[in-house]
Parts: sequence; C-alpha cells; structure tokens
Amino acid sequence: MKIIGINGSPRKGWNTHLLVEEALKGAASKGAETELVHLYDMRFRGCISCFACKKKENSGHCAFADELLPVLGRVGRCDGLILGSPIYISEVTASMRAFIERLTFQYVTYRKEGGSFIDRRIPVLSIYTMNVSEAQMKRIGYEEKFAFYEGRYNQLLGGPAKTLVSTETLQTDEYEKYEMSMFDAAARKKRRAEVFPLDLKKAFEMGAGLGSA
Ligand SMILES: Cc1cc2nc3c(=O)[nH]c(=O)nc-3n(C[C@H](O)[C@H](O)[C@H](O)COP(=O)(O)O)c2cc1C
Repeated sequence: MKIIGINGSPRKGWNTHLLVEEALKGAASKGAETELVHLYDMRFRGCISCFACKKKENSGHCAFADELLPVLGRVGRCDGLILGSPIYISEVTASMRAFIERLTFQYVTYRKEGGSFIDRRIPVLSIYTMNVSEAQMKRIGYEEKFAFYEGRYNQLLGGPAKTLVSTETLQTDEYEKYEMSMFDAAARKKRRAEVFPLDLKKAFEMGAGLGSA
C-alpha cells in the first residue's frame, strides 16, 4: 500500500507540512509505504487545456511534460492521497490549485454518460490550515468550499474524501517584528502549544485510517 502526501505550503517545518507529515506517519504505522512531495520545490504549471488527456488513445492521462508529470503518474497508482494546503485569500494555495487542476482534469470525461477516467478508488484526506477561528471559518463559508473539493475527489478519484482543518495557526514565532497587531501573539502561542498537538493527533489517526483502508 502506497500513500502520498502533498505539501501545498511554501513553508517547510510549519503548520501544513507538519500535519501532512503526521498523517503520513499514521499511514506508515499501518504498514503503508509513504512519500512526501513539496509542491514548492517543483517547477510546474496548472492545466494548459491541451486536451491531450481527452484524446481517444491517451484518455485519463495528463501529457504536459513538466516536473509534475511523474508525480501525477505516481498519484494515479497510489492507494491514498493526503493534500495539505494553507488557505490563501480564501482558497488553497496557487500551487495546490494548479496541482488539483492537473490531477483531476485528466480524469474528467466529456462522455455523455459522465464518470471518471480513473480505474481505481483513491481515498483522499484534505488538510487545510488557516488563520481564522473555527467560528469565522463557518461564517465565511469555507466549509462549503471544503465540501465542494470532497465532492470532486469522490467523483473523480473514487474517494472516500475526508477533511481535517487546523484553525488559528501560528504564523510566526516573532509577532513583535511584524505589523501584525490584530493578532494576540500570546494566545496564538498558547494555542500552538495546547491545540495544535491535538490537530497533529487527528492527522495521525486520519492518516492511519488511510493506511488501513
Ligand atoms: C498570501 C496569504 C494569504 C492568506 N489568506 C488567508 C485567508 O484568506 N484566510 C485565512 O484564514 N488565512 C489566510 N492566511 C493564513 C494562512 O492560511 C495560515 O497562516 C496557514 O496556517 C499557513 O500555513 P503554513 O504555516 O503551513 O505555511 C494567508 C496567508 C498568506 C501568506
């Protein structure tokens, strides 16, 4: 069993990366082979609408030969996928969005009967980290966005898709150095010490669920 984790944050060692890594550790605890991909280490672009993946002789396979292509191939053969992204301007990061375009559009069929070109089921765990509180997240409507992505993964990758959120994350160890007075640095640090470990635990458990699916 192979589980792949995708880190869609540019910051290594920070919230998203740590949660993805923990989910991979959970999968490994069930005997899965794991791989971590840092999107920001790679040069790649979103879908260029070449329609190679819709050609009769190549349907379901992206053909845009940049650094992402081999990763898409491995993801297409994996047994579980972890997609971690910070929320940037109310969305996943640009790199994660480009990854999602490339991964999912290749499986979209324009056949009358619909369906997906994928020939297997890939369970997906989405991990989102964000600045806002859980109450703000609900008020702004992020949950609908996350449900939309879950729906796409169920439809195009087979699923089942699940979601883990980590809110009010620590953005920096040194709030005093930045114009960030709207945040209560002490409260953020306290949350990092007391709540973030619980998020890591959830990530481990959900990753273990993927590893034993
Ligand atoms: C460009 C940018 C835009 C952001 N936009 C939002 C946002 O719209 N909503 C939110 O809750 N947090 C936002 N954040 C905060 C990050 O989502 C949050 O700090 C996240 O945990 C960072 O993940 P990392 O520590 O893994 O890099 C933004 C951060 C950056 C750098």
